[in-house]
Amino acid sequence: MAGAVFRTGFSVASNQLISEPQMMIKLSFRVQLNLPSWLLLSLLLLAVPAQSASRKPVRAKHAMVVSAESLATFAGLDILRSGGNAIDAAVAVGFTLAVTYPEAGNIGGGGFMLIRLADGQSTMIDFREKAPMAATRDMYVDSSGNVIPEKSVLGPLASGVPGAVAGLLMALEEYGTKSRAEVLERAIAYAEHGIAVDLRLEESLVGYMSDLEKFPSSTRVFTKNGEPYKEGDIFKQPDLAKTLRAIAKDGHDGFYEGEVADRIVEEMKRSGGIITYDDLESYEAVERTPVFGSYRGFEILSSSPPSAGGTVLLEMLNILEGVDMKGKGAHSSAAVHAFAAAAQQAYADRALYIGDPDFVEIPQQQLISKEYAAQRRKTIQENKATPSTDAPNAGKEEGSHETTHFSIIDQFGNAVSTTVTINSLYGCKTVVDGAGFVLNNEMDDFVSKPMNPDSYELVGFEANAIEPEKRMVSSMTPTIVVKDNLPYLIVGGRGGSRITTAVAQVILNVIDFGMNVQEAVDFGRVHHQWRPDKILYEPFTLPQDVLVNLRAMGYTLEPTSIANGRVEVILREPSTGFLLGAPDPREEGVAAGF
Ligand code: DON
Repeated sequence: MAGAVFRTGFSVASNQLISEPQMMIKLSFRVQLNLPSWLLLSLLLLAVPAQSASRKPVRAKHAMVVSAESLATFAGLDILRSGGNAIDAAVAVGFTLAVTYPEAGNIGGGGFMLIRLADGQSTMIDFREKAPMAATRDMYVDSSGNVIPEKSVLGPLASGVPGAVAGLLMALEEYGTKSRAEVLERAIAYAEHGIAVDLRLEESLVGYMSDLEKFPSSTRVFTKNGEPYKEGDIFKQPDLAKTLRAIAKDGHDGFYEGEVADRIVEEMKRSGGIITYDDLESYEAVERTPVFGSYRGFEILSSSPPSAGGTVLLEMLNILEGVDMKGKGAHSSAAVHAFAAAAQQAYADRALYIGDPDFVEIPQQQLISKEYAAQRRKTIQENKATPSTDAPNAGKEEGSHETTHFSIIDQFGNAVSTTVTINSLYGCKTVVDGAGFVLNNEMDDFVSKPMNPDSYELVGFEANAIEPEKRMVSSMTPTIVVKDNLPYLIVGGRGGSRITTAVAQVILNVIDFGMNVQEAVDFGRVHHQWRPDKILYEPFTLPQDVLVNLRAMGYTLEPTSIANGRVEVILREPSTGFLLGAPDPREEGVAAGF
Protein backbone atom coordinates (compact mmCIF):
# COMPACT_ATOMS: atom_id res chain seq x y z
CA MET A 1 0.00 0.00 0.00
CA ALA A 2 3.03 2.29 0.42
CA GLY A 3 2.78 5.31 -1.81
CA ALA A 4 -0.71 4.42 -2.95
CA VAL A 5 -2.55 7.39 -4.38
CA PHE A 6 -6.08 7.00 -3.13
CA ARG A 7 -8.63 8.93 -1.25
CA THR A 8 -10.74 7.41 1.40
CA GLY A 9 -14.30 8.40 1.99
CA PHE A 10 -13.33 10.70 4.81
CA SER A 11 -11.59 13.73 3.39
CA VAL A 12 -12.24 15.85 0.40
CA ALA A 13 -11.57 19.49 -0.24
CA SER A 14 -14.18 21.84 1.12
CA ASN A 15 -16.75 23.17 -1.27
CA GLN A 16 -16.04 26.48 -3.01
CA LEU A 17 -19.07 28.61 -3.51
CA ILE A 18 -17.81 30.22 -6.69
CA SER A 19 -14.69 29.14 -8.46
CA GLU A 20 -12.37 31.74 -9.98
CA PRO A 21 -13.11 30.82 -13.61
CA GLN A 22 -16.84 31.18 -12.99
CA MET A 23 -16.28 34.68 -11.62
CA MET A 24 -14.19 35.65 -14.63
CA ILE A 25 -16.83 34.53 -17.05
CA LYS A 26 -19.51 36.38 -15.16
CA LEU A 27 -17.43 39.51 -14.93
CA SER A 28 -16.67 39.62 -18.61
CA PHE A 29 -20.35 38.96 -19.25
CA ARG A 30 -21.18 42.11 -17.32
CA VAL A 31 -18.69 44.16 -19.26
CA GLN A 32 -20.18 43.06 -22.51
CA LEU A 33 -23.81 43.46 -21.52
CA ASN A 34 -23.31 46.32 -19.10
CA LEU A 35 -25.60 44.78 -16.47
CA PRO A 36 -26.29 46.54 -13.18
CA SER A 37 -24.45 45.02 -10.24
CA TRP A 38 -27.64 43.88 -8.40
CA LEU A 39 -28.64 41.89 -11.47
CA LEU A 40 -25.14 40.50 -11.77
CA LEU A 41 -25.30 39.36 -8.15
CA SER A 42 -28.66 37.65 -8.72
CA LEU A 43 -27.30 35.89 -11.78
CA LEU A 44 -24.24 34.83 -9.83
CA LEU A 45 -26.39 33.39 -7.07
CA LEU A 46 -28.46 31.50 -9.62
CA ALA A 47 -25.28 30.02 -11.08
CA VAL A 48 -24.00 28.75 -7.72
CA PRO A 49 -24.82 25.12 -7.06
CA ALA A 50 -27.08 24.70 -4.03
CA GLN A 51 -25.29 23.60 -0.88
CA SER A 52 -26.46 20.48 0.91
CA ALA A 53 -25.60 18.96 4.24
CA SER A 54 -23.97 15.94 2.59
CA ARG A 55 -20.23 15.62 2.35
CA LYS A 56 -18.88 15.55 -1.20
CA PRO A 57 -18.56 12.23 -2.99
CA VAL A 58 -15.07 10.70 -3.17
CA ARG A 59 -13.56 11.42 -6.60
CA ALA A 60 -11.12 9.33 -8.63
CA LYS A 61 -10.05 9.41 -12.23
CA HIS A 62 -9.51 5.78 -13.16
CA ALA A 63 -11.14 3.28 -10.82
CA MET A 64 -13.28 3.13 -7.71
CA VAL A 65 -14.35 0.58 -5.11
CA VAL A 66 -17.14 1.20 -2.59
CA SER A 67 -17.88 -1.44 0.03
CA ALA A 68 -19.21 -1.59 3.57
CA GLU A 69 -15.81 -2.27 5.15
CA SER A 70 -12.48 -0.53 4.70
CA LEU A 71 -10.08 -3.52 4.51
CA ALA A 72 -12.29 -5.07 1.85
CA THR A 73 -12.42 -1.83 -0.14
CA PHE A 74 -8.62 -1.60 -0.08
CA ALA A 75 -8.19 -5.27 -0.98
CA GLY A 76 -10.22 -4.55 -4.11
CA LEU A 77 -8.35 -1.34 -4.79
CA ASP A 78 -4.97 -3.09 -4.58
CA ILE A 79 -6.10 -5.65 -7.11
CA LEU A 80 -7.11 -2.82 -9.45
CA ARG A 81 -3.85 -0.96 -8.90
CA SER A 82 -1.89 -4.07 -9.78
CA GLY A 83 -3.64 -4.23 -13.15
CA GLY A 84 -6.58 -6.46 -12.25
CA ASN A 85 -10.02 -5.72 -13.59
CA ALA A 86 -13.28 -4.99 -11.76
CA ILE A 87 -14.20 -8.67 -11.67
CA ASP A 88 -10.88 -9.61 -10.03
CA ALA A 89 -11.44 -6.80 -7.55
CA ALA A 90 -15.02 -7.90 -6.82
CA VAL A 91 -13.86 -11.44 -6.09
CA ALA A 92 -11.14 -10.12 -3.77
CA VAL A 93 -13.64 -7.86 -2.00
CA GLY A 94 -16.12 -10.74 -1.66
CA PHE A 95 -13.60 -13.11 -0.08
CA THR A 96 -12.14 -10.37 2.13
CA LEU A 97 -15.56 -9.44 3.48
CA ALA A 98 -15.99 -13.09 4.51
CA VAL A 99 -13.13 -12.46 6.95
CA THR A 100 -13.36 -8.79 7.89
CA TYR A 101 -17.16 -8.53 7.97
CA PRO A 102 -18.10 -11.99 9.23
CA GLU A 103 -21.63 -10.97 10.20
CA ALA A 104 -22.57 -10.53 6.50
CA GLY A 105 -19.66 -11.13 4.16
CA ASN A 106 -19.44 -14.84 3.65
CA ILE A 107 -18.48 -18.06 2.01
CA GLY A 108 -21.43 -19.83 3.64
CA GLY A 109 -24.13 -17.86 1.81
CA GLY A 110 -24.87 -16.63 -1.69
CA GLY A 111 -25.60 -13.63 -3.85
CA PHE A 112 -25.75 -12.04 -7.27
CA MET A 113 -22.99 -10.39 -9.29
CA LEU A 114 -24.03 -8.11 -12.14
CA ILE A 115 -21.23 -7.47 -14.62
CA ARG A 116 -21.15 -4.94 -17.45
CA LEU A 117 -18.01 -5.25 -19.51
CA ALA A 118 -16.35 -2.29 -21.20
CA ASP A 119 -17.58 -3.55 -24.59
CA GLY A 120 -21.18 -3.17 -23.42
CA GLN A 121 -21.91 -6.86 -22.86
CA SER A 122 -23.46 -7.78 -19.57
CA THR A 123 -24.23 -10.85 -17.53
CA MET A 124 -25.36 -11.86 -14.07
CA ILE A 125 -23.79 -14.59 -12.00
CA ASP A 126 -26.46 -16.19 -9.85
CA PHE A 127 -24.89 -17.88 -6.84
CA ARG A 128 -28.05 -17.97 -4.81
CA GLU A 129 -28.33 -20.83 -2.32
CA LYS A 130 -30.49 -23.82 -3.22
CA ALA A 131 -32.83 -25.86 -1.07
CA PRO A 132 -31.17 -29.15 -0.14
CA MET A 133 -32.41 -32.25 -2.01
CA ALA A 134 -34.10 -33.47 1.17
CA ALA A 135 -36.05 -30.21 1.65
CA THR A 136 -39.84 -30.44 1.67
CA ARG A 137 -42.54 -27.90 1.16
CA ASP A 138 -43.81 -28.04 4.74
CA MET A 139 -40.53 -28.53 6.54
CA TYR A 140 -41.09 -25.46 8.75
CA VAL A 141 -44.76 -26.13 9.49
CA ASP A 142 -46.22 -28.28 12.30
CA SER A 143 -48.96 -30.89 11.94
CA SER A 144 -51.64 -28.24 12.49
CA GLY A 145 -50.25 -26.19 9.61
CA ASN A 146 -48.62 -23.51 11.78
CA VAL A 147 -45.16 -22.20 11.03
CA ILE A 148 -42.77 -23.29 13.79
CA PRO A 149 -41.01 -20.19 15.14
CA GLU A 150 -37.24 -20.05 14.51
CA LYS A 151 -37.12 -23.32 12.55
CA SER A 152 -36.34 -21.51 9.28
CA VAL A 153 -33.91 -19.06 10.87
CA LEU A 154 -31.83 -20.70 13.62
CA GLY A 155 -29.50 -23.67 13.16
CA PRO A 156 -28.40 -25.41 9.96
CA LEU A 157 -31.86 -26.69 9.03
CA ALA A 158 -32.39 -23.05 7.97
CA SER A 159 -29.45 -23.19 5.61
CA GLY A 160 -29.59 -23.42 1.85
CA VAL A 161 -26.70 -25.03 -0.02
CA PRO A 162 -24.08 -22.24 -0.06
CA GLY A 163 -23.32 -20.65 -3.42
CA ALA A 164 -20.81 -17.88 -2.69
CA VAL A 165 -17.62 -19.82 -3.41
CA ALA A 166 -18.97 -21.23 -6.68
CA GLY A 167 -20.17 -17.78 -7.76
CA LEU A 168 -17.01 -15.85 -6.96
CA LEU A 169 -14.86 -18.51 -8.62
CA MET A 170 -17.09 -18.61 -11.70
CA ALA A 171 -16.76 -14.82 -12.04
CA LEU A 172 -12.98 -15.09 -11.74
CA GLU A 173 -12.67 -17.93 -14.23
CA GLU A 174 -15.01 -16.45 -16.82
CA TYR A 175 -14.24 -12.75 -16.57
CA GLY A 176 -11.22 -12.21 -14.30
CA THR A 177 -7.53 -12.05 -15.10
CA LYS A 178 -5.87 -12.85 -11.77
CA SER A 179 -5.16 -16.18 -10.11
CA ARG A 180 -7.14 -17.55 -7.17
CA ALA A 181 -4.06 -17.10 -4.99
CA GLU A 182 -3.88 -13.40 -5.85
CA VAL A 183 -7.53 -12.58 -5.19
CA LEU A 184 -7.55 -14.61 -1.97
CA GLU A 185 -4.25 -13.30 -0.62
CA ARG A 186 -5.67 -10.53 1.55
CA ALA A 187 -8.54 -12.63 2.86
CA ILE A 188 -6.17 -15.43 3.89
CA ALA A 189 -3.76 -12.99 5.54
CA TYR A 190 -6.53 -11.31 7.55
CA ALA A 191 -7.92 -14.66 8.68
CA GLU A 192 -4.50 -15.98 9.59
CA HIS A 193 -2.92 -12.94 11.25
CA GLY A 194 -6.13 -11.38 12.50
CA ILE A 195 -7.90 -8.06 12.22
CA ALA A 196 -8.46 -5.45 14.88
CA VAL A 197 -11.98 -5.70 16.26
CA ASP A 198 -13.80 -2.43 15.69
CA LEU A 199 -16.82 -1.18 17.58
CA ARG A 200 -19.19 -2.48 14.89
CA LEU A 201 -17.88 -6.03 15.26
CA GLU A 202 -17.76 -5.85 19.05
CA GLU A 203 -21.38 -4.70 19.20
CA SER A 204 -22.69 -7.19 16.68
CA LEU A 205 -20.93 -10.08 18.45
CA VAL A 206 -22.29 -8.99 21.83
CA GLY A 207 -25.77 -8.51 20.36
CA TYR A 208 -25.91 -12.00 18.88
CA MET A 209 -23.88 -13.94 21.46
CA SER A 210 -26.90 -15.58 23.07
CA ASP A 211 -27.77 -17.27 19.75
CA LEU A 212 -24.16 -17.93 18.71
CA GLU A 213 -23.50 -19.61 22.07
CA LYS A 214 -26.11 -22.24 21.25
CA PHE A 215 -23.46 -23.77 18.99
CA PRO A 216 -20.09 -24.74 20.53
CA SER A 217 -18.39 -24.29 17.13
CA SER A 218 -19.66 -20.69 16.96
CA THR A 219 -18.61 -19.96 20.53
CA ARG A 220 -15.11 -21.19 19.71
CA VAL A 221 -14.78 -18.84 16.73
CA PHE A 222 -16.57 -15.77 17.99
CA THR A 223 -15.29 -15.52 21.60
CA LYS A 224 -11.88 -15.42 23.24
CA ASN A 225 -12.20 -18.69 25.16
CA GLY A 226 -15.74 -17.78 26.13
CA GLU A 227 -15.06 -14.05 26.74
CA PRO A 228 -16.51 -11.47 24.36
CA TYR A 229 -14.17 -9.75 21.92
CA LYS A 230 -13.64 -6.06 22.67
CA GLU A 231 -12.81 -3.18 20.35
CA GLY A 232 -9.07 -3.23 19.63
CA ASP A 233 -8.61 -6.98 20.26
CA ILE A 234 -7.04 -8.99 17.46
CA PHE A 235 -9.53 -11.45 16.00
CA LYS A 236 -7.90 -14.41 14.25
CA GLN A 237 -9.75 -17.08 12.28
CA PRO A 238 -7.27 -19.92 11.65
CA ASP A 239 -9.90 -22.45 10.54
CA LEU A 240 -11.28 -19.98 8.04
CA ALA A 241 -7.74 -19.32 6.76
CA LYS A 242 -7.38 -23.07 6.18
CA THR A 243 -10.67 -23.21 4.26
CA LEU A 244 -9.68 -20.21 2.12
CA ARG A 245 -6.34 -21.86 1.38
CA ALA A 246 -8.15 -24.99 0.24
CA ILE A 247 -10.23 -22.81 -2.10
CA ALA A 248 -7.09 -21.08 -3.42
CA LYS A 249 -5.50 -24.46 -4.08
CA ASP A 250 -8.38 -26.56 -5.40
CA GLY A 251 -11.00 -24.02 -6.48
CA HIS A 252 -14.62 -25.26 -6.45
CA ASP A 253 -13.50 -28.71 -5.26
CA GLY A 254 -11.65 -27.17 -2.32
CA PHE A 255 -15.01 -26.19 -0.85
CA TYR A 256 -17.67 -28.44 -2.35
CA GLU A 257 -15.66 -31.66 -2.05
CA GLY A 258 -13.02 -33.07 0.27
CA GLU A 259 -12.39 -31.95 3.82
CA VAL A 260 -14.47 -28.75 3.85
CA ALA A 261 -17.50 -30.55 2.39
CA ASP A 262 -17.04 -33.36 4.92
CA ARG A 263 -17.02 -30.85 7.74
CA ILE A 264 -20.21 -29.18 6.47
CA VAL A 265 -21.95 -32.55 6.36
CA GLU A 266 -20.69 -33.43 9.86
CA GLU A 267 -22.04 -30.11 11.16
CA MET A 268 -25.41 -30.91 9.58
CA LYS A 269 -25.54 -34.22 11.40
CA ARG A 270 -24.43 -32.71 14.68
CA SER A 271 -26.76 -29.68 14.62
CA GLY A 272 -29.83 -30.93 12.80
CA GLY A 273 -29.33 -29.86 9.17
CA ILE A 274 -30.09 -31.80 5.99
CA ILE A 275 -27.43 -30.68 3.47
CA THR A 276 -25.62 -33.74 2.10
CA TYR A 277 -22.34 -34.29 0.31
CA ASP A 278 -24.35 -34.74 -2.92
CA ASP A 279 -25.96 -31.32 -2.41
CA LEU A 280 -22.54 -29.73 -2.12
CA GLU A 281 -20.84 -31.60 -4.91
CA SER A 282 -23.61 -30.79 -7.37
CA TYR A 283 -23.93 -27.07 -6.54
CA GLU A 284 -23.12 -24.83 -9.49
CA ALA A 285 -23.46 -21.08 -9.94
CA VAL A 286 -25.41 -20.10 -13.07
CA GLU A 287 -24.94 -17.28 -15.53
CA ARG A 288 -28.22 -15.57 -16.34
CA THR A 289 -29.31 -12.69 -18.51
CA PRO A 290 -29.91 -9.60 -16.38
CA VAL A 291 -33.21 -7.73 -16.67
CA PHE A 292 -33.02 -4.77 -19.04
CA GLY A 293 -35.17 -1.68 -19.02
CA SER A 294 -34.99 2.07 -19.24
CA TYR A 295 -35.92 5.10 -17.22
CA ARG A 296 -36.21 8.54 -18.80
CA GLY A 297 -33.65 7.62 -21.47
CA PHE A 298 -31.20 5.88 -19.14
CA GLU A 299 -30.66 2.14 -19.62
CA ILE A 300 -31.14 0.02 -16.52
CA LEU A 301 -29.59 -3.42 -15.98
CA SER A 302 -30.45 -5.29 -12.85
CA SER A 303 -30.83 -8.69 -11.22
CA SER A 304 -33.11 -11.26 -12.83
CA PRO A 305 -34.99 -14.05 -11.03
CA PRO A 306 -34.51 -15.81 -8.70
CA SER A 307 -33.93 -12.31 -7.44
CA ALA A 308 -37.09 -10.27 -7.61
CA GLY A 309 -34.99 -7.12 -7.23
CA GLY A 310 -34.54 -6.09 -10.85
CA THR A 311 -38.09 -6.93 -11.87
CA VAL A 312 -39.63 -4.97 -9.00
CA LEU A 313 -37.24 -2.09 -9.65
CA LEU A 314 -38.17 -1.88 -13.33
CA GLU A 315 -41.89 -2.17 -12.69
CA MET A 316 -41.66 0.67 -10.19
CA LEU A 317 -39.54 2.85 -12.47
CA ASN A 318 -41.82 2.17 -15.45
CA ILE A 319 -44.83 3.24 -13.41
CA LEU A 320 -43.05 6.36 -12.15
CA GLU A 321 -41.79 7.31 -15.62
CA GLY A 322 -45.32 8.47 -16.38
CA VAL A 323 -45.43 10.69 -13.30
CA ASP A 324 -43.83 14.12 -13.12
CA MET A 325 -41.66 13.28 -10.12
CA LYS A 326 -39.40 16.28 -10.64
CA GLY A 327 -42.37 18.61 -10.69
CA LYS A 328 -43.78 17.10 -7.52
CA GLY A 329 -40.43 17.49 -5.71
CA ALA A 330 -38.46 15.16 -3.45
CA HIS A 331 -40.31 14.24 -0.25
CA SER A 332 -43.46 16.08 -1.28
CA SER A 333 -46.61 14.21 -0.28
CA ALA A 334 -47.48 13.78 -3.99
CA ALA A 335 -44.07 12.23 -4.76
CA VAL A 336 -44.17 9.91 -1.73
CA HIS A 337 -47.73 8.88 -2.69
CA ALA A 338 -46.67 8.04 -6.25
CA PHE A 339 -43.62 6.15 -5.03
CA ALA A 340 -45.50 4.16 -2.40
CA ALA A 341 -48.28 3.30 -4.85
CA ALA A 342 -45.77 2.11 -7.46
CA ALA A 343 -43.99 0.01 -4.82
CA GLN A 344 -47.30 -1.49 -3.66
CA GLN A 345 -48.09 -2.65 -7.18
CA ALA A 346 -44.65 -4.04 -7.93
CA TYR A 347 -44.31 -5.85 -4.58
CA ALA A 348 -47.77 -7.38 -5.02
CA ASP A 349 -46.61 -8.80 -8.37
CA ARG A 350 -43.42 -10.02 -6.71
CA ALA A 351 -45.43 -11.97 -4.16
CA LEU A 352 -47.59 -13.56 -6.82
CA TYR A 353 -45.27 -14.29 -9.70
CA ILE A 354 -41.58 -14.42 -8.81
CA GLY A 355 -39.86 -17.72 -8.13
CA ASP A 356 -36.85 -19.66 -9.30
CA PRO A 357 -37.04 -19.44 -13.11
CA ASP A 358 -35.82 -23.04 -13.36
CA PHE A 359 -39.02 -24.11 -11.55
CA VAL A 360 -41.76 -21.61 -12.35
CA GLU A 361 -43.04 -19.68 -15.37
CA ILE A 362 -42.70 -15.98 -14.67
CA PRO A 363 -44.49 -13.48 -16.94
CA GLN A 364 -41.19 -11.62 -16.94
CA GLN A 365 -41.49 -9.56 -20.11
CA GLN A 366 -44.98 -8.45 -19.15
CA LEU A 367 -43.95 -7.39 -15.65
CA ILE A 368 -41.19 -5.13 -16.96
CA SER A 369 -43.04 -3.77 -19.99
CA LYS A 370 -44.01 -0.12 -20.35
CA GLU A 371 -47.56 -1.10 -21.41
CA TYR A 372 -48.15 -3.10 -18.25
CA ALA A 373 -46.79 -0.24 -16.16
CA ALA A 374 -49.15 2.17 -17.92
CA GLN A 375 -52.13 0.00 -16.93
CA ARG A 376 -50.88 -0.24 -13.37
CA ARG A 377 -50.33 3.53 -13.26
CA LYS A 378 -53.96 4.16 -14.18
CA THR A 379 -55.09 2.43 -10.99
CA ILE A 380 -53.24 4.97 -8.84
CA GLN A 381 -55.76 7.49 -7.59
CA GLU A 382 -54.89 11.11 -7.11
CA ASN A 383 -54.44 12.02 -3.47
CA LYS A 384 -55.80 8.67 -2.34
CA ALA A 385 -54.06 5.55 -1.09
CA THR A 386 -55.17 2.18 -2.43
CA PRO A 387 -55.45 -0.25 0.48
CA SER A 388 -53.45 -3.48 0.16
CA THR A 389 -56.23 -5.01 2.31
CA ASP A 390 -55.59 -6.03 5.89
CA ALA A 391 -51.94 -6.28 6.81
CA PRO A 392 -50.88 -9.59 8.30
CA ASN A 393 -48.72 -9.33 11.39
CA ALA A 394 -48.42 -5.55 11.17
CA GLY A 395 -46.04 -3.98 13.63
CA LYS A 396 -43.40 -6.69 13.60
CA GLU A 397 -40.14 -4.98 12.82
CA GLU A 398 -37.16 -6.26 14.67
CA GLY A 399 -33.99 -8.22 14.31
CA SER A 400 -31.01 -7.39 12.24
CA HIS A 401 -30.40 -8.86 8.85
CA GLU A 402 -27.16 -9.17 7.11
CA THR A 403 -26.23 -8.68 3.56
CA THR A 404 -23.58 -6.49 2.05
CA HIS A 405 -23.15 -4.75 -1.28
CA PHE A 406 -20.09 -3.51 -3.18
CA SER A 407 -19.83 -1.46 -6.35
CA ILE A 408 -16.69 -1.39 -8.48
CA ILE A 409 -15.56 0.24 -11.72
CA ASP A 410 -12.10 -0.29 -13.17
CA GLN A 411 -9.67 1.65 -15.33
CA PHE A 412 -10.80 -0.33 -18.39
CA GLY A 413 -14.48 0.62 -18.12
CA ASN A 414 -15.82 -2.66 -16.66
CA ALA A 415 -18.44 -2.24 -13.94
CA VAL A 416 -19.50 -4.76 -11.31
CA SER A 417 -22.37 -4.54 -8.85
CA THR A 418 -22.45 -7.37 -6.29
CA THR A 419 -24.66 -8.18 -3.33
CA VAL A 420 -23.91 -11.13 -1.04
CA THR A 421 -25.84 -12.38 1.96
CA ILE A 422 -26.23 -14.97 4.69
CA ASN A 423 -29.68 -13.45 5.32
CA SER A 424 -29.72 -12.77 9.08
CA LEU A 425 -26.79 -11.39 11.01
CA TYR A 426 -24.40 -14.36 11.39
CA GLY A 427 -26.81 -16.38 9.23
CA CYS A 428 -28.21 -19.42 11.05
CA LYS A 429 -25.61 -18.74 13.79
CA THR A 430 -23.90 -22.10 13.21
CA VAL A 431 -20.20 -22.15 12.41
CA VAL A 432 -19.05 -25.24 10.51
CA ASP A 433 -16.72 -26.73 13.08
CA GLY A 434 -13.14 -26.84 11.87
CA ALA A 435 -13.96 -24.86 8.70
CA GLY A 436 -14.46 -21.53 10.47
CA PHE A 437 -17.44 -19.93 8.67
CA VAL A 438 -21.12 -19.43 9.47
CA LEU A 439 -23.86 -20.95 7.36
CA ASN A 440 -26.70 -18.88 5.96
CA ASN A 441 -30.35 -19.03 6.98
CA GLU A 442 -31.59 -18.22 3.51
CA MET A 443 -34.33 -20.91 3.63
CA ASP A 444 -36.43 -18.26 5.40
CA ASP A 445 -36.64 -16.41 2.07
CA PHE A 446 -38.89 -19.19 0.80
CA VAL A 447 -42.60 -19.09 1.54
CA SER A 448 -42.96 -21.52 4.46
CA LYS A 449 -46.72 -21.12 4.22
CA PRO A 450 -48.79 -18.91 1.86
CA MET A 451 -49.29 -15.41 3.28
CA ASN A 452 -47.06 -16.12 6.27
CA PRO A 453 -44.72 -13.10 6.65
CA ASP A 454 -41.00 -13.94 6.56
CA SER A 455 -38.42 -12.06 8.59
CA TYR A 456 -38.85 -9.03 6.30
CA GLU A 457 -42.65 -9.30 6.57
CA LEU A 458 -42.76 -10.30 2.91
CA VAL A 459 -45.53 -12.67 1.96
CA GLY A 460 -45.71 -14.96 -1.03
CA PHE A 461 -47.45 -17.88 -2.62
CA GLU A 462 -46.89 -20.96 -4.70
CA ALA A 463 -44.16 -19.54 -6.97
CA ASN A 464 -41.77 -19.34 -4.03
CA ALA A 465 -42.79 -22.52 -2.18
CA ILE A 466 -40.00 -24.85 -1.02
CA GLU A 467 -38.93 -27.57 -3.45
CA PRO A 468 -35.74 -29.63 -3.48
CA GLU A 469 -32.90 -27.85 -5.30
CA LYS A 470 -34.96 -24.71 -5.89
CA ARG A 471 -33.49 -21.26 -5.30
CA MET A 472 -35.40 -19.01 -2.91
CA VAL A 473 -36.58 -15.58 -4.14
CA SER A 474 -34.35 -12.68 -3.17
CA SER A 475 -34.72 -8.90 -2.98
CA MET A 476 -31.09 -8.23 -3.84
CA THR A 477 -30.94 -5.55 -6.52
CA PRO A 478 -27.41 -5.08 -7.87
CA THR A 479 -27.98 -2.54 -10.63
CA ILE A 480 -26.05 -0.64 -13.29
CA VAL A 481 -27.53 2.43 -14.96
CA VAL A 482 -26.06 3.21 -18.37
CA LYS A 483 -25.95 6.56 -20.16
CA ASP A 484 -24.54 7.07 -23.66
CA ASN A 485 -23.24 3.49 -23.63
CA LEU A 486 -21.14 4.07 -20.51
CA PRO A 487 -21.81 3.00 -16.91
CA TYR A 488 -23.46 5.95 -15.16
CA LEU A 489 -24.53 4.60 -11.77
CA ILE A 490 -23.43 1.38 -10.07
CA VAL A 491 -25.77 0.77 -7.19
CA GLY A 492 -27.07 -1.88 -4.83
CA GLY A 493 -27.51 -2.46 -1.15
CA ARG A 494 -28.59 -4.49 1.81
CA GLY A 495 -31.78 -4.36 3.83
CA GLY A 496 -33.89 -7.35 2.81
CA SER A 497 -37.15 -6.28 1.22
CA ARG A 498 -36.08 -2.63 1.49
CA ILE A 499 -33.14 -3.06 -0.87
CA THR A 500 -35.22 -2.51 -4.00
CA THR A 501 -36.97 0.64 -2.83
CA ALA A 502 -33.61 2.00 -1.61
CA VAL A 503 -32.05 1.45 -5.05
CA ALA A 504 -35.10 3.00 -6.75
CA GLN A 505 -34.85 6.10 -4.56
CA VAL A 506 -31.14 6.60 -5.30
CA ILE A 507 -31.98 6.47 -9.03
CA LEU A 508 -34.89 8.93 -8.66
CA ASN A 509 -32.83 11.24 -6.47
CA VAL A 510 -30.15 11.49 -9.15
CA ILE A 511 -32.25 11.43 -12.33
CA ASP A 512 -35.44 13.22 -11.26
CA PHE A 513 -34.42 15.39 -8.36
CA GLY A 514 -30.90 16.31 -9.56
CA MET A 515 -29.06 15.44 -6.36
CA ASN A 516 -25.39 14.65 -6.50
CA VAL A 517 -24.67 11.00 -5.81
CA GLN A 518 -23.79 11.43 -2.13
CA GLU A 519 -26.90 13.53 -1.51
CA ALA A 520 -28.90 10.85 -3.30
CA VAL A 521 -27.53 8.19 -0.96
CA ASP A 522 -27.87 10.27 2.22
CA PHE A 523 -31.40 11.52 1.55
CA GLY A 524 -34.03 10.00 3.87
CA ARG A 525 -35.85 7.01 2.41
CA VAL A 526 -39.38 5.67 2.54
CA HIS A 527 -40.49 2.09 1.97
CA HIS A 528 -43.70 0.28 1.07
CA GLN A 529 -43.91 -3.41 0.15
CA TRP A 530 -47.65 -4.00 -0.42
CA ARG A 531 -48.02 -6.08 2.74
CA PRO A 532 -47.95 -4.91 5.45
CA ASP A 533 -49.89 -1.94 4.16
CA LYS A 534 -47.81 0.90 5.53
CA ILE A 535 -45.14 3.39 4.61
CA LEU A 536 -42.03 3.02 6.73
CA TYR A 537 -40.06 6.27 6.78
CA GLU A 538 -36.69 7.05 8.26
CA PRO A 539 -37.23 9.27 11.32
CA PHE A 540 -36.89 13.04 10.89
CA THR A 541 -37.06 12.84 7.11
CA LEU A 542 -40.67 13.53 6.15
CA PRO A 543 -41.95 16.90 7.38
CA GLN A 544 -45.00 16.94 9.61
CA ASP A 545 -47.27 18.45 6.93
CA VAL A 546 -46.30 15.68 4.52
CA LEU A 547 -47.14 13.06 7.16
CA VAL A 548 -50.48 14.78 7.74
CA ASN A 549 -51.24 14.88 3.99
CA LEU A 550 -50.32 11.24 3.47
CA ARG A 551 -52.43 10.14 6.43
CA ALA A 552 -55.31 12.14 5.00
CA MET A 553 -54.87 10.20 1.74
CA GLY A 554 -55.39 7.00 3.71
CA TYR A 555 -51.82 5.83 4.33
CA THR A 556 -50.55 4.33 7.55
CA LEU A 557 -47.09 5.70 8.26
CA GLU A 558 -44.53 4.52 10.77
CA PRO A 559 -41.03 5.72 11.55
CA THR A 560 -38.69 2.78 11.04
CA SER A 561 -36.31 1.57 13.74
CA ILE A 562 -33.86 0.21 11.17
CA ALA A 563 -32.49 1.95 8.08
CA ASN A 564 -34.45 1.70 4.85
CA GLY A 565 -31.61 -0.16 3.20
CA ARG A 566 -27.92 0.67 3.05
CA VAL A 567 -26.46 1.29 -0.37
CA GLU A 568 -22.94 1.61 -1.77
CA VAL A 569 -22.86 3.61 -4.98
CA ILE A 570 -20.58 4.89 -7.75
CA LEU A 571 -21.54 7.54 -10.31
CA ARG A 572 -19.51 8.32 -13.41
CA GLU A 573 -19.70 12.08 -13.93
CA PRO A 574 -20.55 12.48 -17.62
CA SER A 575 -18.99 15.93 -17.99
CA THR A 576 -15.53 14.89 -16.73
CA GLY A 577 -15.50 11.09 -16.77
CA PHE A 578 -14.50 11.20 -13.09
CA LEU A 579 -15.79 8.47 -10.80
CA LEU A 580 -17.70 9.57 -7.72
CA GLY A 581 -17.95 7.13 -4.82
CA ALA A 582 -20.79 7.46 -2.34
CA PRO A 583 -20.78 5.19 0.72
CA ASP A 584 -23.95 5.03 2.80
CA PRO A 585 -23.71 6.94 6.10
CA ARG A 586 -26.12 4.36 7.54
CA GLU A 587 -23.15 1.97 7.78
CA GLU A 588 -19.36 2.29 7.86
CA GLY A 589 -18.86 2.04 4.10
CA VAL A 590 -15.66 3.28 2.47
CA ALA A 591 -15.10 4.52 -1.06
CA ALA A 592 -11.58 4.58 -2.47
CA GLY A 593 -10.20 5.01 -5.93
CA PHE A 594 -7.25 6.21 -7.95
O1 DON B 1 -32.02 -12.29 -0.44
C1 DON B 1 -32.69 -11.54 0.24
O2 DON B 1 -33.58 -10.86 -0.19
C2 DON B 1 -32.39 -11.43 1.71
N1 DON B 1 -31.90 -12.65 2.21
C3 DON B 1 -31.43 -10.30 1.89
C4 DON B 1 -31.11 -10.05 3.31
C5 DON B 1 -30.61 -8.71 3.59
O3 DON B 1 -30.53 -7.85 2.75
C6 DON B 1 -30.25 -8.43 4.98
N2 DON B 1 -29.62 -7.12 5.08
N3 DON B 1 -29.33 -6.33 5.76
